[in-house]
Amino acid sequence: MTTKGVFTEIGGFCPNCGSILPPLKEKGGVTCYTCARNFAFDVFKGYKVKYTVHFNSREKFKSKDDKKRKEEEDEEEGTFVDRKCPKCGNEKMSYATVQLRSADEGQTEVVTGTTPVIILLILYQQQPQILLLKEGTDTSQGKPQLISNINACQSIVDAVRTTLGPRGMDKLIVDKSGKATISNDGATIMKLLDVVHPAAKSLVDIAKSQDAEVGDGTTSVVLLAGEFLKQIKPYVEEGVHPRIIIKAVRRSLQLCLEKISELAIKINKANAGEFQSLLQKCAATAMSSKLIHQQRDFFSKMVVDAVLHLDELLPLNMIGIKKVQGGALEDSMLVAGVAFKKTFSYAGFEMQPKVYHNCKIALLNIELELKAERDNAEIRVDTVKEYQKIVDAEWNILYQKLQKIHESGANVVLSKLPIGDVATQYFADRDMFCAGRVLEEDLKRTLKACGGAVMTTVHDLNESVLGKCDYFEERQIGGERFNFFKGCPNAKTCTMILRGGAEQFLEETERSLHDAIMIVRRTIKNDAVVAGGGAIEMELSRMLRDYSRTIAGKEQLLIGAIAKALEIIPRQLCDNAGFDATNILNKLRQKHAQGNCWYGVDINKEDISDNLEACVWEPAIVKVNALTAATEATCLILSVDETIKNQKSGDAPPAMGRGMGRPM
Ligand SMILES: Nc1ncnc2c1ncn2[C@@H]1O[C@H](COP(=O)(O)OP(=O)(O)OP(=O)(O)O)[C@@H](O)[C@H]1O
Ligand SMILES: [Mg+2]
Repeated sequence: MTTKGVFTEIGGFCPNCGSILPPLKEKGGVTCYTCARNFAFDVFKGYKVKYTVHFNSREKFKSKDDKKRKEEEDEEEGTFVDRKCPKCGNEKMSYATVQLRSADEGQTEVVTGTTPVIILLILYQQQPQILLLKEGTDTSQGKPQLISNINACQSIVDAVRTTLGPRGMDKLIVDKSGKATISNDGATIMKLLDVVHPAAKSLVDIAKSQDAEVGDGTTSVVLLAGEFLKQIKPYVEEGVHPRIIIKAVRRSLQLCLEKISELAIKINKANAGEFQSLLQKCAATAMSSKLIHQQRDFFSKMVVDAVLHLDELLPLNMIGIKKVQGGALEDSMLVAGVAFKKTFSYAGFEMQPKVYHNCKIALLNIELELKAERDNAEIRVDTVKEYQKIVDAEWNILYQKLQKIHESGANVVLSKLPIGDVATQYFADRDMFCAGRVLEEDLKRTLKACGGAVMTTVHDLNESVLGKCDYFEERQIGGERFNFFKGCPNAKTCTMILRGGAEQFLEETERSLHDAIMIVRRTIKNDAVVAGGGAIEMELSRMLRDYSRTIAGKEQLLIGAIAKALEIIPRQLCDNAGFDATNILNKLRQKHAQGNCWYGVDINKEDISDNLEACVWEPAIVKVNALTAATEATCLILSVDETIKNQKSGDAPPAMGRGMGRPM
């Protein structure tokens, strides 16, 4: 039975009109002075009432025994006595502890309070209760809920707002284990933020989906969704039904997508040189907002070369990225083939040759090491000879394996499992190269690039399962040694070896390159570009505003709100660069009204410029995806009007009565 809420909330007030009740007179019950309603003893119907009357002052009791005796004396049945309440000191109120026993169920409950409260409690308990949710479940609903969700999303947006654009700031995030990450990438920041608010989580999800789908534009998508919600909030507060808003938002999206496909500039793939330089421009735009923007020309060339190395499907995992601390960013290099860090190796390794031409590669998942079987087997031997036999058997097994590998004709042996010192020397004697404990992803990439198969036994090892490549070498890069496989016949693959200072810097470089690689892949697949720097957003905003003026009703205002929201991208670009956003936006509005659809923010001159000419190009798919995802998130958040949070069993807060637990 839930009693606490009633107990604390409405103690001593008439349940009918809410005014203060007079003291309860013996069996006559209590009559409210204001509404003249009598709360007689019939409210106790169905309950057997037993109560103890408490006295006001403790000093009256000389000793504990005295107190106990007194309490026993006062335990009467069926009467309420007017006394001073020990809590509030109110003389007129009777204060009692009542034991309620339900007539039919035989349950008892002890409650304490002034007599009117007891009456209310009983009244309350006699009402049939419909329990829908577990005790401790927190529900909040309606318009306040919607507004609170929108506010939560705003705080998320504020966290990433300043990272947008070439002049955006970076964030340093330290996680629970103390690992620091410096990033400008929206998706990375959102992932690390560890958001708990259920509605705000949907923004994290759209950032992640944008990252997976197109790689870039993750900050923009969060910003757009947040701004859509912000501009729509006044209409929600005024009571416009969410369904009407959702309809208008969806209509705006449809118009925007139509406009983008109409405006987007198709790429001419016929001219390879031109195509390549266009891809480089897209990659450079994606990187211009990152830490490595100074080297964006260097890296955009590298990224485009890397992607063009791949086959038509452009598999992302065929571009390996390896980081080697030390050196300058410009020392980074692209290797046409597979490269990975030299694995741990035993003595004898130095005698192995380090360069091969036309090499054959055995890819294994076999341990080539003598096992210390003593640890996990018990063998009883009586003579030294027998012991020797066991040792010999083990060596023989290993030698048989090694011989089979040698006979297969392989000259490079890679294994996922360790290759011990005996095997290393065996291979060295036969001018073979070996590497044990190769990472699975590297082994897979070698497999895909060089062909062959990963073998788990040496019995079927022959020419046909060996991988092939034109050139193999082991080389020193910075403080590390690297194994290079070049001229791989099967799959087209490449590896970027990044050089640079701090570890966090290298990690951020890798993330930025990932964005750029994704952008280049997307541009090759969906050959259409638009101008960035807020140009496309301004044009969409103008188009929506013009359209909204042609329609009547609430939709006009709502589509107008979306048009305003789209301006957040150029506005934020200006804000982050320290420009006068209002001034620049006014100039942009004027240009777009005159039909110059590619005018956007010029980050270098604190002005506006034709960003198509300025080569700030972005694939149209980035914008299409960002707008779609932002609209989806907006509609999702708008369509939620109730949150029901179920407490984990065990840590439920004290039960609350009705009317409580609704955060407004
Ligand atoms: N040279 C430039 N001049 C003007 N605007 C630019 C320039 N380069 C990029 N931009 C704009 O900056 C915005 C991209 O900023 P940023 O890369 O920080 O965020 P994002 O791409 O949305 O998210 P993320 O890269 O974190 O996934 C785009 O709107 C783009 O048009
Ligand atoms: Mg970007």
